[in-house]
Amino acid sequence: MKNGKLLAVDNLTKVFTKGQGLVKSKIEAVSKVSFDLELDRPEILTLAGESGSGKSTVAKLILGFETPTTGSILYKGEPIANLKGKKDFMRAVQPIFQNPFETFNPLKKVQSYFHETERNFTQTSPGQYPLTEKSLQLVGLTSAEIKDKYPSEMSGGQLQRASIARALITNPSLLIADEPVSMIDASLRMSVVNLFKTLKEEAQVSIIYITHDLATAYYISDRIAIMLRGQFVELGSVKKVLDNPLHPYSQLLKTSVPAPDPRDRWTEDIALSDLETKEYTRKGCKFAGRCPKVFDLCHEQEPDHHAVDDRLVKCHLYA
Ligand SMILES: Nc1ncnc2c1ncn2[C@@H]1O[C@H](COP(=O)(O)OP(=O)(O)OP(=O)(O)O)[C@@H](O)[C@H]1O
Ligand SMILES: [Mg+2]
Repeated sequence: MKNGKLLAVDNLTKVFTKGQGLVKSKIEAVSKVSFDLELDRPEILTLAGESGSGKSTVAKLILGFETPTTGSILYKGEPIANLKGKKDFMRAVQPIFQNPFETFNPLKKVQSYFHETERNFTQTSPGQYPLTEKSLQLVGLTSAEIKDKYPSEMSGGQLQRASIARALITNPSLLIADEPVSMIDASLRMSVVNLFKTLKEEAQVSIIYITHDLATAYYISDRIAIMLRGQFVELGSVKKVLDNPLHPYSQLLKTSVPAPDPRDRWTEDIALSDLETKEYTRKGCKFAGRCPKVFDLCHEQEPDHHAVDDRLVKCHLYA
């Protein structure tokens, strides 16, 4: 058992079968992923990478929504398999979803979610909701702003703040935010993202932030993991990785500007989904087919993680 870790992810792998009929292929949507979050030092870790790189699958495995094929995830030393579905774990490790309008029932008033959550979590005197007040305050909302409102009467940015506030009522240790601002109006995105930084500092919450947007990642996170076809190809301090990316894929990602709107993303492109399967099933380095620095070994052998300049880089160039 690893002591002193909030989360210890070790050699995590998830195999999926893709395709239909005769053209089925097995892919490692998450492949030998390892990282830790410290118990006493809240951190924002970003997972970034193109569509179909396994980011959401990592999130689902940590939340216990998917079961690992191999590898382990320990939360405070205890396997997730033993914790998932249990009240304490669900309070401590909370998801923040992409679309706040899907998080809330359109026919239910927003404040009722807060009051229910608070009542279930602690004994409150009738009509008194101190935790609701406190968590709304942390996200920059007031109870007057949500009072009697239905989700449709709030902006996407406000509603996403509300969904984060609701998660905070139970005093979580870890939030897993999967593209929390990609459906939100561009003008409001930064204010929601900034909130994560405040929460880390003021509420001691660690956050796994999943995004396509390297600009917000740079601004709020401590470390970043660049994912490619299920693998962490580069992991290190966000400043180092984005100021001076070492992996050729990180370099490509930095210079390309993907669409933040999931509706017009590259996945829709048939050619790209072919590329996805091809790269997932390719031996050697997954990036060998697109890498400007490719050499023979890359086609033959999967690179190890090499420690270079305070980070891990999965590339033969750094052997
Ligand atoms: N339940 C599933 N069954 C089969 N394949 C799956 C399943 N869930 C995900 N996959 C595949 O696993 C790979 C990784 O998917 P994942 O959703 O984790 O990527 P992502 O990085 O979150 O992508 P995006 O940026 O589009 O959200 C993809 O090829 C996807 O099609
Ligand atoms: Mg995803």
